[in-house]
Amino acid sequence: MGEAQAAAAAATMGEDTQSKGAAMVVVPAPRPRKGVASWAVDLLERLAVRLRHDDKKAEPIPWLSGNFAPVPDETPPAAGLPVRGHLPKCLNGEFVRVGPNPKFAPLAGYHWFDGDGMIHAMRIKDGKATYVSRYVKTSRLEQEEYFGGAKFTKIGDLKGVFGLFMVLTQELRKKLKVLDATYGIGTANTALIYHHGKLMALSESDKPYVVKILEDGDLQTLGLLDYDKRLKHPFTAHPKVDPFTDEMFTFGYSHEPPYCTYRIITKDGIMLDPVPITIPESVMMHDFAITENYSIFMDLPMFFRPKEMAKNGEFIYKFDPTKNARFGILQRYEKDEKTIRWFELPNCFIFHNANAWEEGDEVILITCRLNNLDLDQVNGHQSDKLEDPGNELYVYPQYIPFILIPCNPLLALMLYLSGTR
Ligand SMILES: [Fe+2]
Repeated sequence: MGEAQAAAAAATMGEDTQSKGAAMVVVPAPRPRKGVASWAVDLLERLAVRLRHDDKKAEPIPWLSGNFAPVPDETPPAAGLPVRGHLPKCLNGEFVRVGPNPKFAPLAGYHWFDGDGMIHAMRIKDGKATYVSRYVKTSRLEQEEYFGGAKFTKIGDLKGVFGLFMVLTQELRKKLKVLDATYGIGTANTALIYHHGKLMALSESDKPYVVKILEDGDLQTLGLLDYDKRLKHPFTAHPKVDPFTDEMFTFGYSHEPPYCTYRIITKDGIMLDPVPITIPESVMMHDFAITENYSIFMDLPMFFRPKEMAKNGEFIYKFDPTKNARFGILQRYEKDEKTIRWFELPNCFIFHNANAWEEGDEVILITCRLNNLDLDQVNGHQSDKLEDPGNELYVYPQYIPFILIPCNPLLALMLYLSGTR
C-alpha cells in the first residue's frame, strides 16, 4: 500500500477507451454544496481539532516531510529531456507509477496511506523522453478542489474518540449534502493495473479510476469503472492479470459480512458474478495471489476495530499477535466458496505477495511476512525519524521473507524458510 507501482501502457495511447469493451467508464459528477451547513460543520471540526491535545502538533508530520513531502504542482508534458547515453528508437511507451500526494494540507491526522493519487510518467518515443505528472481526478479530489481545502476524513484521523468524532463529522457532511459520496471517496493512490485496454489507478476502498495516456504522454482521468453496475464493493489495489488467458482476478474487502468478495473479469472486460469469501471478522486484506488453477486469499489478524478505537484510544486497525493467520485456497473458477480450504499458519501480517505457482500437487507462494505490525507507527507523528525512510526496518522491524510450500488442497504442508534481517 502506498508503494510505487508501474505498468507499461503504450497500448492506450491515442485510443478512446470509452468506445471499446463491455464496461463503460462512469464520469463522476459529485454535487458538493457550500453554505451555512458546510460552514457550521467546518467550525465544529476546527474547534474539535483545536481542543485535541497533541504536544507534537507544531512539528512537521514525517509522512509529509523530507522524502515524503508532497509535490505541490502537476507537471504538464516536459518534452525533450536530456538523455545520458542512448534511447533505442524501438523503445516506445510510457512508464507510469502512482503514489499518495496530498493536494491540500490535512486539517488533523495524516497517515502514510493518505494522500491523493498522483501519477508520474515517463514517455519514451523515437529516442526522446518526456516527463509528466498528473493527479488522478477522483470524486474526492474534485470536491476538495471545490472547497479549496481538505474536507474528507483521513485514515490518520481514525484514532481514539477523536477518530469517532471525525467519522461522525464526515457522516454529517454527507447527510447535509455538503459532501457527495455517490462516486466513492477513494484516493486512487496505491497501484496501477492495465487490463482490457484500460490503465486503472486503484485504492482498495474504492472502484478503479481509468486513466488515458495521450499521444504526447499527458494523462487524462476518464472516470471510474463499475463494470456496468456489477461492481458494488471495494476493489483491491492489487488484482492479478493472467498473461495466458488475459482474465483479471480481483477481490474487495469490506466491513460487513462476508467481509471479502472475489471477482473475475473476463478478457473482454466483463465482470462475472460475485463469489463471497466469508471470514469471521473484518480485516485488512491488501493482496492475494493466483496460480494456474487456484486463487489464494489471506485472512490475517489485522482487525478493523472501531469500538476499540473509541474505547481504548487506539488506531482503527489493530494487529492481534495472539491470533493465527490463515490462507484460503479456492479453485479459481468456482462459483461459490463451498470448496475453499483454509490453512492456518503462525501469526503474521502480509502486505504483498511476490509470486505463486503450482508444482505437481503443491501450490508455492513467495510472500513477505511481517511480525507484530503496528499501522499506527506510520501515522501522524508516531515516527520521529525520516532519514532514508524507503525500506528502513524501523517501520517494519521484523521483516521476514519466507517461502510457503503448501498446498495440495488435500494436504497442508507448510515449510518455513525464514531469516530475520
Ligand atoms: Fe500495495
